Amino acid sequence: MTSPTLSKGPTSAEIVHGQKEYLLPAMVHLYKEPLALASAEGVRVRDPEGHEYLDLFSGILTSSVGHCNPRVVEAVTAQMRTLDHVSTLYATEIQVEAARKLADIAPGDLKRTFFTNSGTEAIETAIMMAFLATGRNEVVSLRHAYHGRSFMTTSVTAQAGWRPFGTRISGVTHSKAPYPYRCPYKQPCDETCADRLAEDLEEVIATTTSGKPAAFLAETIQGVGGYVVPQPSYLKKAAEVIRSHGGLMIIDEVQAGFGRTGTHWFAIEHFGVEPDIMVMAKGIANGWPVGATITTDEIAHAWKPKTLSTFGGNPISMAALCATQDVMRDEGVPTTAKARGDQLRAGLCQIQARHPWIGDVRGMGLMQAVEVVQDPETKVPDSERVGKLLEAGKDRGVLLGRGGLWGNVIRIGPSLLITEAEIAEGIEKIGAACDAVGG
Ligand SMILES: Cc1ncc(COP(=O)(O)O)c(C=O)c1O
Repeated sequence: MTSPTLSKGPTSAEIVHGQKEYLLPAMVHLYKEPLALASAEGVRVRDPEGHEYLDLFSGILTSSVGHCNPRVVEAVTAQMRTLDHVSTLYATEIQVEAARKLADIAPGDLKRTFFTNSGTEAIETAIMMAFLATGRNEVVSLRHAYHGRSFMTTSVTAQAGWRPFGTRISGVTHSKAPYPYRCPYKQPCDETCADRLAEDLEEVIATTTSGKPAAFLAETIQGVGGYVVPQPSYLKKAAEVIRSHGGLMIIDEVQAGFGRTGTHWFAIEHFGVEPDIMVMAKGIANGWPVGATITTDEIAHAWKPKTLSTFGGNPISMAALCATQDVMRDEGVPTTAKARGDQLRAGLCQIQARHPWIGDVRGMGLMQAVEVVQDPETKVPDSERVGKLLEAGKDRGVLLGRGGLWGNVIRIGPSLLITEAEIAEGIEKIGAACDAVGG
């Protein structure tokens, strides 16, 4: 933390007090006391007392080109003065431009977009789209998945803690997650495990659906699940299975999209699969609320009933999207994310060498995770130590994320424009936090 400069607004204590009085208590926070934030710039955020933190979680992988990026601020401000809101009932140039930008970088034949306001809505749209295109009403997703907070998306989510009532909408079923560190088939896991997982998907379709599912839905890299990277051939095999049953492949790139995983714009491109429907949100517009569902011409035309979204395609959000995409393109984000990600990974592996309770370091590009266990042999999750690590990081001026089914994974996903020096600073602070929590 750098030296504090007092802000003129309310104190952290006053903000947290207000939060506790007026907001839903179920809202998840990362620390013993919610951290109040008052201002931000680039990869730095500040609390009302002026304490500064290096933000390595970027508002859950959303401030993709840094907080208050000047080009995004400028584009949004200009749009606010020109055309602020009209709804999807009207055509606007900025919405067309945004959709064109997505079509330009999306894999395969993905071309037509429907804009909403969140990842949750974009997943809902994707599932509805698959149902309409196939005339079917069942979907298979993966265990450990997280796809959102509505009734349908909590149903395709497979983490009980995120599912109120524990109930599922009928027609939703789950197959085994490709989770190499905890692979039930073989340790260390290899490509033969991908075959076994594809067989499990086949069996789930045969035993828990009508045999005619509308779609298979998967995150390319499970995000909330703890940055679980599948075996290299798994997604391709899963696509073959679902397509052999006449279903569609829906890929959730809400966390992993837009160059985050390095080299490519979308994580799915690492795995050689062209999705039928792809879902984007989070980093798409640097924090402006945009969800996007993109599909092929043919699937888009199968949507016959009427649809609209009041806020979807909002001109100001679209201006944020266009500016964010322009910055990422101009900065060559997929290439820089690969380089910075390799640097981060190397630093995390060095920290792991000092601490046996770091069971696994994994991820791609600037989406890296550390899985914390009580003992590397038994792999029993250690969520308590992760709680301490988050606090120790905060005390040293670095913000980290948390994930994993058992809350035992540290997630790191900074702005995609983070510099070499800032990554080095982050590694140093994470290392110090790890040393402070022992062993
Ligand atoms: C992979 C994935 N899909 C969907 C969602 C839902 O997005 P939102 O919170 O914008 O509704 C999330 C949110 O964390 C996510 O990580």
